[in-house]
Amino acid sequence: EKGGYDHFMLKEIYEQPHSIANCMRGRIDHERKKINLGGISEYAAKLLTAKRIIIVSCGTSWHAGLVGEYLIEEYARIPVEVEYASEFRYRHPIINQDDIVIAISQSGETADTIAAIELAKRAGATILGICNVVGSSIPRLSHTGMYTHAGPEIGVASTKAFTAQVTALSLLALYLAQQQERLPLSKITSLLTALETAPALITTCFQSNALIQHIAGEIKDSTNCLFLGRGINFPVALEGALKLKEISYIHAEGYPAAEMKHGPIALIDEQMPVIVIATKDSSYDKIISNIQEVKARKGKIIAIITEGDTVIRAIADYIIEIPPCEEALTPILATIPLQLLAYHIAVMRGCNVDQPRNLAKSVTVE
Ligand code: F6R
Repeated sequence: EKGGYDHFMLKEIYEQPHSIANCMRGRIDHERKKINLGGISEYAAKLLTAKRIIIVSCGTSWHAGLVGEYLIEEYARIPVEVEYASEFRYRHPIINQDDIVIAISQSGETADTIAAIELAKRAGATILGICNVVGSSIPRLSHTGMYTHAGPEIGVASTKAFTAQVTALSLLALYLAQQQERLPLSKITSLLTALETAPALITTCFQSNALIQHIAGEIKDSTNCLFLGRGINFPVALEGALKLKEISYIHAEGYPAAEMKHGPIALIDEQMPVIVIATKDSSYDKIISNIQEVKARKGKIIAIITEGDTVIRAIADYIIEIPPCEEALTPILATIPLQLLAYHIAVMRGCNVDQPRNLAKSVTVE
């Protein structure tokens, strides 16, 4: 049942080229370079006239929502707010009839997310569910939506569901941009081509597995780890930290790299591994100065870089390469080594990778 892998988590990490292809299947018209989102087209007009989009979710799905915020604001220029469902629902939020509420959930059964959409629905908002489990509660409560089609996820730590959520949000952002005729066709085409290459590029990321296992051995006894990213890869830093803490029980924090100097930098010493997403994107120069700040305090730098980058290679203690790609695709690719790193560390520490203590696959209590 684990397909020859030691754990479901590892199997699910390695399934990502397929799960992402499944998420895209039938949604990209290759010839016309267009996106078709069957169910959603009925609500296209509502989506396009929306004054804002509110994304509600929890945990890893909330991280996917943060990536979605970057993508939708960048490509469709619709304002997006991303909320923890548990905070949103208890705060007497302002919800208007022309708001779109996107609920992201692997299980489709998370109690707080369900309560948040029920509240938004009563206020007259349109609910769009992005869920993995077909026929679960959230898709049933939503007006429209997209399934992520990642297949069943058994490991409690979400892996392939996350990258499929980001893929679905990328498709949605491009769909909105295409309907609005905002982005030049050439840009949409190159983004679509990039998405289509994602499965192959993820396979390339797996080539670093042995190296990642080695790095895992070097940092497995740490008591703390810091994950840094900027821009569209800031949520990836949060996700890397969550993966590590939930399965290895090492305390980890994710931060936007520029926030480091407002507090967390005080934690950095030679005992502190700092994992930085430092790919060649629009934040590249800024992230190099953040890496230098860590280096000056003797932090151990593990950098996720774009293949062929020699600048960061010269500064970092360890580098993990991902293939060059469109910036919009870096969150998916940079997530892969972080999943593997958390996995190997947890295995080395003798943790129950698939069923970490105190956690359940679907959180149906509030
Ligand atoms: C982390 C994890 C959780 C879930 C969260 C939301 O690996 O799995 O943080 O992401 O409980 O669950 P769903 O997506 O089912 O609503």
